[in-house]
Amino acid sequence: AAPVMEYKVADLSLAEWGRKELMLAEQEMPGLMACREEYGPSKPLAGLNIGGSLHMTVQTAVLIETLVELGANVRWCSCNIFSTQDQAAAAVVVGPKGTIENPQGVPVFAWKGETLEEYWACTERMLDFGDGRGPDQIVDDGGDATLLILKGVEYAKAGSVPGPETTDNEEFKEVLKVLAKTMEQDAQRWVKVAENCKGVTEETTTGIKNLVKYQKEGTLAFPAINVNDSCTKSKFDNLYGCRHSLIDGLFRATDVMVSGKVAVVCGYGDVGKGCAQSLRGQGARVIVTEIDPICALQAAMEGYEVKTLEDVIDTADVFITTTGNFKIITAEHMSKMKDKAIVGNIGHFDNEIDMAGLKKLAEPTNIKPQYDMWTFKDGHSVLILAEGRLLNLGCATGHPSFVMSASFTNQTIAQIDLALYNKGQETLSGMKYDENKVTLLSKKLDEKVARLHLDQLGVRLTELSKEQADYIGVEVEGPYKPEHYRY
Ligand code: NAI
Repeated sequence: AAPVMEYKVADLSLAEWGRKELMLAEQEMPGLMACREEYGPSKPLAGLNIGGSLHMTVQTAVLIETLVELGANVRWCSCNIFSTQDQAAAAVVVGPKGTIENPQGVPVFAWKGETLEEYWACTERMLDFGDGRGPDQIVDDGGDATLLILKGVEYAKAGSVPGPETTDNEEFKEVLKVLAKTMEQDAQRWVKVAENCKGVTEETTTGIKNLVKYQKEGTLAFPAINVNDSCTKSKFDNLYGCRHSLIDGLFRATDVMVSGKVAVVCGYGDVGKGCAQSLRGQGARVIVTEIDPICALQAAMEGYEVKTLEDVIDTADVFITTTGNFKIITAEHMSKMKDKAIVGNIGHFDNEIDMAGLKKLAEPTNIKPQYDMWTFKDGHSVLILAEGRLLNLGCATGHPSFVMSASFTNQTIAQIDLALYNKGQETLSGMKYDENKVTLLSKKLDEKVARLHLDQLGVRLTELSKEQADYIGVEVEGPYKPEHYRY
């Protein structure tokens, strides 16, 4: 008999519901469906083990099944303890042709509301394709899969894993525990995983920041493709995606009237721009904080007031962090806020808001999952979304399908490109991935991703004449802009 599929999800009986949502999502993901049509027959990912750590949502399910359609053998986990949609996870495990009794889809290790210990155990299971063999290629979001591998390599070289008592970081304690346990069985496991891995394609700003750091340190163990900074990713998902899902998360959790309230958005990068628009769209009076003079000037000229957090700490009603930086809202800040001020984070990691500090100053009352009231000794309280973790995925369902189609078409193309390169074939981007460094996809591919999303919106593109193309110095079929163009 065939070996039983290993997986861990909340409830397989949700698969039928999940499948219906997948069917609707497919219709809204023209880029991914076009990839299935164009690359499905040639199966460029055949024979490859692909491991993914990325929010296990309905949209991600469509990405996973696209990778399968292109030939890959896939395992998956989420990159956040609250972001899984259990019906999507169940549908992926059962697969389009399987049944609950006989699942035939992809091994998924993810459910909504994991503990940190479970989270890292899921990441470890995702990275094991049998007898500790790691993936050939990784899809990462925020870099946790890459982190586990690279830390494993670091401690294998050092000869031992530090004890969990050596760190104050609750999350990192769990990383150390997982590594200690796995390296007890095979001290060289992560070295072998790193050697076997031919590349990672990274989804988000924070993950790219970490990859660039590893590259500088010389610890990046495989090539990395920066999916985030494709224009059709960060200028769409981070911006329009958050414009949709910020307010969705805020409403589903609090149901509070935003119109007329004062909302503070910390950070005015791509995510911050979307969040500020989202709140303004509801009639909130939006105030922005920034450290970068260019982004501060952009915010001001867009008509937002730009202040410091201290200026508005006791007057604003809603605070949203979008910086990808840490220690943005401290416990002391929260102690000075108005009674029932709402505090949420939409940046990748939960360290933008000092939850550990808050625990020392205030007492929690759970209102409902991912929504808590924290009361200070003087009797006033603040309302915290998703325990400080990214609220659009914790309190709602993240970005909608259409914008994720653009992001995930970049992911799919990046995965194909790594595969083609490693088979010694010409890559779609024309690039080589032989060095352990972070590279962008080509502008031609970026334009291709955009093109795949035009029809659905009824866009009619004007065609350049040869004469016009020559005049502005581009090819008729693109790329249309120089590398330094910022859109
Ligand atoms: P970005 O780099 O474009 O923007 C961040 C902005 O924050 C920058 O303009 C920076 O100057 C500013 N900033 C840094 N420190 C600050 C401080 N102390 N006070 C005020 N502003 C500060 O990055 P992007 O793409 O906007 O991403 C932000 C975060 O959101 C990242 O962690 C990213 O991974 C995450 N992200 C989350 C998504 C979600 O669905 N929740 C979607 C896309 C990205």
